[in-house]
Amino acid sequence: MKTFPFGSGRPDPASFPNRGLAEAAMRILPELGAELACYPGSLGYEPLRKLMSRRFARREGVALPVDQIVLTTGSMQAVTLMAQVFVESPGDVIVLEEYSYSGTLSAYRKEKAELVGIPLDDHGMRMDALEGTLEQLVSKNKQPRFIYTLATYQNPTGSIMPLGRRRELLDIAGRYAIPVVEDHCYADTVYEDHHEPALWTLEHDTPVIHIESLSKILGPGIRLGYLAAPRGLLDRILLYRRDGGTSTLSAAVVYEYFREELWSHVDRINAIVRKKRDLMFEMLSRFPDAFEWFSRPKGGLFIWVRLPDATDTVACEQLAESRGVDYATGKAFHVSSLDVPYIRLAFGFATHDDIRTGIPILADCIRNSRKKPD
Ligand SMILES: Cc1ncc(COP(=O)(O)O)c(C=O)c1O
Repeated sequence: MKTFPFGSGRPDPASFPNRGLAEAAMRILPELGAELACYPGSLGYEPLRKLMSRRFARREGVALPVDQIVLTTGSMQAVTLMAQVFVESPGDVIVLEEYSYSGTLSAYRKEKAELVGIPLDDHGMRMDALEGTLEQLVSKNKQPRFIYTLATYQNPTGSIMPLGRRRELLDIAGRYAIPVVEDHCYADTVYEDHHEPALWTLEHDTPVIHIESLSKILGPGIRLGYLAAPRGLLDRILLYRRDGGTSTLSAAVVYEYFREELWSHVDRINAIVRKKRDLMFEMLSRFPDAFEWFSRPKGGLFIWVRLPDATDTVACEQLAESRGVDYATGKAFHVSSLDVPYIRLAFGFATHDDIRTGIPILADCIRNSRKKPD
């Protein structure tokens, strides 16, 4: 059966640089000498850390300190480490956006944290709600362990937090002495000229841990991500790392490929994925009875879509699955797994044909999944 892959956030497969990576591997592997006969160490392959520091500098105007960058097995390892480091007892609180990345939610649930969601609007986490929630938590003796935020190209909603709100977030977190974890996984999946500075770059006393990934600009099969942490926290984080380090093989090949190609690669794939995003916007607009509202993200890999209230979301998912359409349910991103009338559509991996054919099928599934009146 033909399938329509709107489920997970992967980049365009046709532009994956197989040959470029093969050539990079041929160049770098003979140069590595005995390095592959050694453990990578807790920070990981230095040339890639230097390159990632420059990646940050080009985007943010300041370099990430190379000796504070820790390569990880995908950014998911960094995200999970945060709970392993900060959650000391079951029920310790982590504060995050009310809708957040499903992988993070399940990792943090697994670490037995209590997740407290803060409502979002078009500009990300709402600061009035954050302040009120922290006040309540602290009055109940529940000091949150950290705030996890997707300030840029929020997953799933696509929102971007403006600079003023970023400063407010750091001020509030500082007042309550709570560290902030900034997951910047979609940093360079950018389709429009809009930039808000990473929290890491803002002058502040609040500790910020910054997380990035190579999955979204290259591919999740590479399994490379990294975190940067203030010096005081870095050693504590490294104590929880027990995997022997991140693959030098993977890091070296990617370094060698990106040494010359990073920005041309990023520009090339963003141009390809931007067209898919625009096509998906266009297709969704054709069916206003099914897709009642949708976000128009300037970056990232997802469109957040509101369905008619009367939609039976479970029936819709089953029907869509039977017709080959894969998407992510709103419930998967809700901090308390509420059955909400939203879905998240990924546009990076699907072809133009998939989008042109699959979106009308999905609209049909939604129309045919109306709840029966009681
Ligand atoms: C917000 C966010 N963080 C982290 C990840 C994990 O990515 P990876 O481990 O492949 O770097 C994802 C993947 O979709 C994500 O959306």
